Amino acid sequence: MILPLTIQDVSFEIGGIRLIKDLNCTLEAGPRTMILGANGAGKSLFLRLCHGLIRPTTGRVLWQGAKGRDPADAQAMVFQRPVMLRRSVAANVDYALKLRGMAAAERRAAVEDALGHTGLRRLADNPARVLSVGEQQKLALARAWALQPEVLFLDEPTASLDPAATHAVEQIINAIDAAGTRIVMTTHDLGQARRLGDEVMFLNRGRLLEKALAERFFSEPENDLAQAFLKGELLWWQRGRDNLKRNPPKQRRQ
Ligand SMILES: Nc1ncnc2c1ncn2[C@@H]1O[C@H](COP(=O)(O)OP(=O)(O)OP(=O)(O)O)[C@@H](O)[C@H]1O
Ligand SMILES: [Mg+2]
Repeated sequence: MILPLTIQDVSFEIGGIRLIKDLNCTLEAGPRTMILGANGAGKSLFLRLCHGLIRPTTGRVLWQGAKGRDPADAQAMVFQRPVMLRRSVAANVDYALKLRGMAAAERRAAVEDALGHTGLRRLADNPARVLSVGEQQKLALARAWALQPEVLFLDEPTASLDPAATHAVEQIINAIDAAGTRIVMTTHDLGQARRLGDEVMFLNRGRLLEKALAERFFSEPENDLAQAFLKGELLWWQRGRDNLKRNPPKQRRQ
């Protein structure tokens, strides 16, 4: 197990702007983590930092259980907008396994398995790029499944899916969890966060404002911005409104 993952005083800057600010947390083995926050809160950046796709400007990302192993080999990520290779569905999964160094003889069964678990077997020979958005999301999960990662980062896995496709993807996530992979995901769907989450992290403007057990977070969030978020009040809009109250715009002369 490469877990626990400790994020220590992590900040991330681009062009002198701090996008992630002084973030500290530990992700233990076990519970499923839902990362919540408004658009632009830093959820995707946080996942990228954890997954090692970007490096913190200051602070450290520590895989405490790695003990000399390369943590990259034991984790996978599904992106907010997954990219499909210009190949068949099966070849997309096969390629992911090849990159991880699995021998061709073993890959065949692993591809079959992953497509079976995600309901894609009948589409195995179709070009991946003509799949519907929901099917592409399943394929992205199939690629991750095949790798049997210890930790799987999922960035908005059901954004822009209809209720049926959302349900199917949630079932796949449940199955991946049941198979022993640690799930860390972002979502805008609060119902989904309640259904899938054991713990919640709430981000706002690059800061981690609350990390709590899901039950606790949804019943009595401690942070006032988390409360506002759960009530569906858009934080940036509210801030804008407060500013407007203090500095009302000048009326234009006719
Ligand atoms: N490469 C970049 N260059 C400049 N700014 C960036 C870059 N990547 C992200 N940002 C900014 O960092 C902030 C956080 O971005 P991030 O994508 O993590 O938000 P998010 O919480 O995932 O939002 P969403 O819910 O819309 O996916 C945003 O304001 C974004 O504009
Ligand atoms: Mg995002």
